[in-house]
Amino acid sequence: MLLPRLKGTIRRILLQWLGWSSAYAVLCSLEAVLLGRKVRLEVCSKCQLKCPTCATAHGETRSGIVAWGELAPDDLSRFLGKAGRIRLLEISNWGEIFLNRRLTDLLERTRVGGVPVTVANGVNLNTATESALEAVVRCGVRALTISIDGASSASYATFRINGDLARVLANVECINHFKRKYASEFPALTWQFIVFGHNEDEIDAARAMAEARGMKFRAIRNLAADYSPIRQPRRTAERARIDLATSTDVVLDSLADNLGFCHQVWDEPQVNWNGDLLGCCFNNSRAFGNAFETPLADLMAGRDYRYLQKMLAGRAPLRDDMPCATCRLLPRSLRAA
Ligand SMILES: C[S@@+](CC[C@H](N)C(=O)[O-])C[C@H]1O[C@@H](n2cnc3c(N)ncnc32)[C@H](O)[C@@H]1O
Ligand code: SF4
Ligand code: SF4
Repeated sequence: MLLPRLKGTIRRILLQWLGWSSAYAVLCSLEAVLLGRKVRLEVCSKCQLKCPTCATAHGETRSGIVAWGELAPDDLSRFLGKAGRIRLLEISNWGEIFLNRRLTDLLERTRVGGVPVTVANGVNLNTATESALEAVVRCGVRALTISIDGASSASYATFRINGDLARVLANVECINHFKRKYASEFPALTWQFIVFGHNEDEIDAARAMAEARGMKFRAIRNLAADYSPIRQPRRTAERARIDLATSTDVVLDSLADNLGFCHQVWDEPQVNWNGDLLGCCFNNSRAFGNAFETPLADLMAGRDYRYLQKMLAGRAPLRDDMPCATCRLLPRSLRAA
C-alpha cells in the first residue's frame, strides 16, 4: 500500500508538475529491473454479450487495432521470453478472457513461469469450462473481478444483454468449490456492480449475495451518463457508498488531468492479444511495435513511444498519429483550444 502511494506521489511530481517524462521512465526501468514490471496483456478481445454502452459490443474495438482474437499459448511464451521480469500480469482489457479456448494452457504457462496474474479489470463469467475455472484456482490467479450488475435475473440482463445471472452464480460456486478443494485463498473474488437507474434498488441485495459467497462487493459509477440514469441519487449514493453527486464529465476530466489511465504508458504498458504494444488500455488506433518479436524495453525506448510519453507529460505538441488525439481521457491542458 505504501509503495503504490509513494509511486503515485513521485509520478505526480515528475510527470504532472515538472513534465519530466524521461526521469519517470528511468525510474520505471529501474523498478522493472529491481522488482519486475507490471504489464497488461489481453488474452481475448472477443465477447459474447452486448452491453449497450460497451465499445466491444458496438464493434468499435473489433474494427480498430484491438481487433477480435485470442492470445495463443506459444505467443505467450514468446512474450514472456522478451518482456523481462514481470511482477504482475493483468490479462483482461476489452473482451472476455473465458472465451479464449486455450485459457487453461495460458494459465499453466504463467504458473510455470512464476508470473502472478490478475483479472482485476473484469469478466462477465457467463461462459466458462470447468477446466478453465479450475485453472484459475490451481494456477493461483490473484484477483478476479466479476461484473454482476444486478441481484435479479431481469435487472442483470437489462445491461448484460445475452447474459444469465444463474449461470454466472453457478460459475462463482464452481470457483469457490475449487478454492475449497485446493485450500486456496486465490483468486480473491470481487463482485463489481455498475449502478444504473434500473438496478439501484438491488444494491443491498447484491451486497448480501456477494458476502454469502465470500466476495468483496464494489459498486462503481456508470461512466455512460445518458444510459439508465440514477433515479434517486442521494439514497443510492448512500447505499452504493460512492459519490454520485459529481457529474460524469467532471469525473472524466479529473481522471484525464491526473493521467488516470495514461500512466500505464510508463508503468503498466498494455499489450494486445496479437503482441501489438498499445501503451495504455484505451488505445485502439495504433501500435508501437510487436512485443512477441522485440523486447518490451526496446519498444518502450522507441522514438514514437518516447514522443507519446513526452507529449502526455506536456513537453511536446499533440500529434494526430498518437492514440490520444481522439481520446476523452487526454489531459485538458493538452487539448486544442
Ligand atoms: C469492456 S469490459 C471487459 C471485461 C469484461 N467483459 C467485463 O465486462 O467485466 C471492462 C470493464 O468495463 C466495465 N464497464 C462496462 N460498461 C461500463 C459502464 N457503462 N460504466 C462503467 N464501467 C463499465 C465492465 O464492467 C468491466 O469492468
Ligand atoms: S461483457 Fe464486458 S466486454 Fe462484453 S459487452 Fe459487456 S462490458 Fe463489453
Ligand atoms: S490520452 Fe492517450 S494515453 Fe491517455 S488514456 Fe487516452 S489514449 Fe491512453
